[in-house]
Amino acid sequence: MELHASTHEDIVHAANIVRRGGLVAFPTETVYGLGADASNGQAVTRIFAAKGRPADHPLIVHLSAADEMARWARDIPDAAWVLAERLWPGPLTLILKRAAGVLDAVTGGQDTIGLRVPDHPVALALLKAFGSGIAAPPANRFGRVSPTCAAHVRAELGDAVDYVIDGGSCQVGLESTILDLSGSLPRVLRPGAVTADLLARILGEPLGTRAGNQPRVSGSMASHYAPDTPLRLIEAHAIETAAQSFLIIGQSIAVLSMRQLVSHHPDCRWITMPANPREYGQLLYARLREVDTWGCRWILVEQPPALAEWEAVHDRLKRSASIRGVEGIAS
Ligand code: TXA
Ligand code: MG
Repeated sequence: MELHASTHEDIVHAANIVRRGGLVAFPTETVYGLGADASNGQAVTRIFAAKGRPADHPLIVHLSAADEMARWARDIPDAAWVLAERLWPGPLTLILKRAAGVLDAVTGGQDTIGLRVPDHPVALALLKAFGSGIAAPPANRFGRVSPTCAAHVRAELGDAVDYVIDGGSCQVGLESTILDLSGSLPRVLRPGAVTADLLARILGEPLGTRAGNQPRVSGSMASHYAPDTPLRLIEAHAIETAAQSFLIIGQSIAVLSMRQLVSHHPDCRWITMPANPREYGQLLYARLREVDTWGCRWILVEQPPALAEWEAVHDRLKRSASIRGVEGIAS
């Protein structure tokens, strides 16, 4: 993607805001980030206030290139360099031991740090113009669906963000894969577009399981990606009968399915989703936001196939289906 001259001016302006301790929302290939200078404690604190996010949740630090890792992490294993070489810029976050001097506000007081080089020309240009790490969670209110276009950011954060760079719709649409390299075995903490299978193949070793004493990952809380309308996951073969059973008792529904609508009903709004996991992931959050404004009683989502390439989608759908305040620690 070529940057327009106006985009270039936007980026210089945005970098100056970050330098002065402000908050800038910017596009990445995954979702829009709410960025602040990762070396400025007050600026980082503003991220938590703007999102309404608990202050002990660690943030990912975004870098313009892999060689900046050494400023933020120590005892960097070879695996990190190998993965950075192969997959950065890209939708992969590495959890490493943190270097001395990294702020507790960024790491949530943990001894580790999350780092990633995003694959988006606007994000990379911003990081280069700023010249150092930018801490950024998704640019949404805590517990809401992550934003995949600039309009979502404005709707969520309004004046709480100093500037929004509009870089169009995000190509990946789901948050990055998080790989913990701080322990004895590499472990995926959050599935994403970079699959566990690809990571294991590049590393030439099996990955550890997700169980055990894992660091806090806000995305691992059950209710983290929920729309306001309750969402039910329905097995593919049962989607039409499930839809009928809600309609018979007079409850309006929105349906996200990979099938075509068979019969129209005034209380049923049907969205046909792509049958390909990449395209599905790209659209999912925008579709959830859209159907959430319709005021239906339920959102029914057809379970995608139980295949490894759908893992990130399954993970986000499962979280969206959780009932707030019941399974989740917070929303
Ligand atoms: O795609 C993405 O990763 C997006 C874009 C903006 O880059 N960012 C994102 O940030 O999803 P966030 O804050 O929702 O997720 C980062 C996750 C957090 O849940 C956090 O707990 C985990 O990474 N994380 C960050 N630093 C960590 C650390 N030091 N140790 C363990 N987990 C960490
Ligand atoms: Mg999150």
